[in-house]
Amino acid sequence: MEQLAGGTAVVSGGASGIGLGIARAAAGEGMHVVIADIEEGPGEEAAAAIAATGARSLFVRTNVMDLDSVEALADCAYAEFGRVDLLCNNAGVHHPSPVNEMSREDWRWLLGVNLEGVIHGLLAFLPRMREQGGESHIVNTSSLAGLAPLPGGAGYTASKFAVTGLTEVLRGELAPHRIGVSLLCPGPVNTNIGSSARNRRSALDEDGEDAGGTAGRDAEAHVSAVTSRGMDPDLVGRLVMAAVMANDRYIIPHPEWREVIETRSARLLQGFDRAGELLSNL
Ligand SMILES: NC(=O)c1ccc[n+]([C@@H]2O[C@H](COP(=O)([O-])OP(=O)(O)OC[C@H]3O[C@@H](n4cnc5c(N)ncnc54)[C@H](O)[C@@H]3O)[C@@H](O)[C@H]2O)c1
Repeated sequence: MEQLAGGTAVVSGGASGIGLGIARAAAGEGMHVVIADIEEGPGEEAAAAIAATGARSLFVRTNVMDLDSVEALADCAYAEFGRVDLLCNNAGVHHPSPVNEMSREDWRWLLGVNLEGVIHGLLAFLPRMREQGGESHIVNTSSLAGLAPLPGGAGYTASKFAVTGLTEVLRGELAPHRIGVSLLCPGPVNTNIGSSARNRRSALDEDGEDAGGTAGRDAEAHVSAVTSRGMDPDLVGRLVMAAVMANDRYIIPHPEWREVIETRSARLLQGFDRAGELLSNL
């Protein structure tokens, strides 16, 4: 999609971190921006700050775990702007906890936001994006943890691997419809993801009881410490705009982590070689 100016971007998780960086960058390219987030105060503030730069901007309180809520978001975006040119399924949470300590609700929250949030975005927006005609684009936020396992974060890794697979297939399916698809796989970015649990109760309470998360404070503090040394989210946002215009398949802002992906790929290929050896001896 070469032309962004005058189009409309919808960004889930747009009140903070990477989503806010994407929303600001989209406004910087002359787009109208819809910020969708479960956190009302920061969402309103973000939309107002973007509007103050001269862009048209709207906040819609949205729980991406809830399909009805995402459908209502799509209704608002189409009522206000008539079309959506860039959909960023970005809202996400982290829950650093070993598998054997994770509860049913931990899994439901992680997969509900990180994976179902993306699926709900597609269910609510894709039919209308196809129908509106013209070029458009979808960016799904995965992670480096969607390309190689993140130690201590099996639930997060599972959710992000699923987003990676879904997005890779989606790109092929949507190409004939002139809808580009990019997969965003950041390493550490300086955001509020270390305090993801701040949104857990409001996300889960809307559809059930929750006894509270099992992630230890130390593990969450470690995530905050690592990400606080990470990349500026505004830089990620500007990179995303450039990649959308070029219809890039992958957006991987952290070249210094390349080796981690190389190591995993090499291990996978060793699996083929090993099975070949074993089969020849059967
Ligand atoms: N920060 C990193 O180092 C990093 C690295 C790789 C991938 N990511 C991914 O980037 C995305 C954005 O995370 P971030 O780092 O900017 O964190 P963040 O906490 O700063 O922002 C996430 C936003 O999502 C919102 N959100 C959470 N649950 C929601 C729900 N149920 N419905 C709607 N909105 C909800 C939060 O309110 C918040 O505004 C996530 O998908 C995350 O997994 C982050």
